[in-house]
Amino acid sequence: MFREKVPADWLPKVMTNLPAVLVDHAHLERKAATSALNLEKYRDLFTRVEELNAIAIEELQHFQLVLDLLKRRGIPFGQPYPSPWIAGLMKSVRSGQRHQVIDHLICCSLIEGRSCEKFQVLAKELKGVDAELAAFYGSLVESEGNHYATYLLMAKGIDEAETSRRLDFYLELDSKLIREPNPLPMLH
Ligand SMILES: [Fe+2]
Ligand SMILES: [Fe+2]
Repeated sequence: MFREKVPADWLPKVMTNLPAVLVDHAHLERKAATSALNLEKYRDLFTRVEELNAIAIEELQHFQLVLDLLKRRGIPFGQPYPSPWIAGLMKSVRSGQRHQVIDHLICCSLIEGRSCEKFQVLAKELKGVDAELAAFYGSLVESEGNHYATYLLMAKGIDEAETSRRLDFYLELDSKLIREPNPLPMLH
């Protein structure tokens, strides 16, 4: 689906900074939970509130799992750093009722999709290096993949043609943004 590969310097940066990446991951799951809740403000999603709650609960459970990992490893929870990639996507969310909800859903979908993709890469790379972390990332892949699909289907359920147009726009934007260097050890 994505038009641009994750840059080659991402994986070594993450592998050599795993404690910081785990703290970033904790915040990513926290933000994923709040994003699911934030989507509940849109009129077009009032009928999907329970599904969104279910996603928020799942993300909160992921957040707790990362916190447990941090504790077991003696890594202190720390401050969040903004992701230029996520900020770049969200900056292009248009205002106007229907435009906003569709753009917001597509952004959430792409964030989940990139997480799913990167967790898969990490699960593979960590095998033999850190079995516990490898298994952990492997266990999250399906869930984030489902979130990606659910958000996209929610957008299509509101307006299929508009969603296709905007998905095209956002995939182009993603290809540009993902190539911009981010020296911080972050998932996104
Ligand atoms: Fe998650
Ligand atoms: Fe997710």
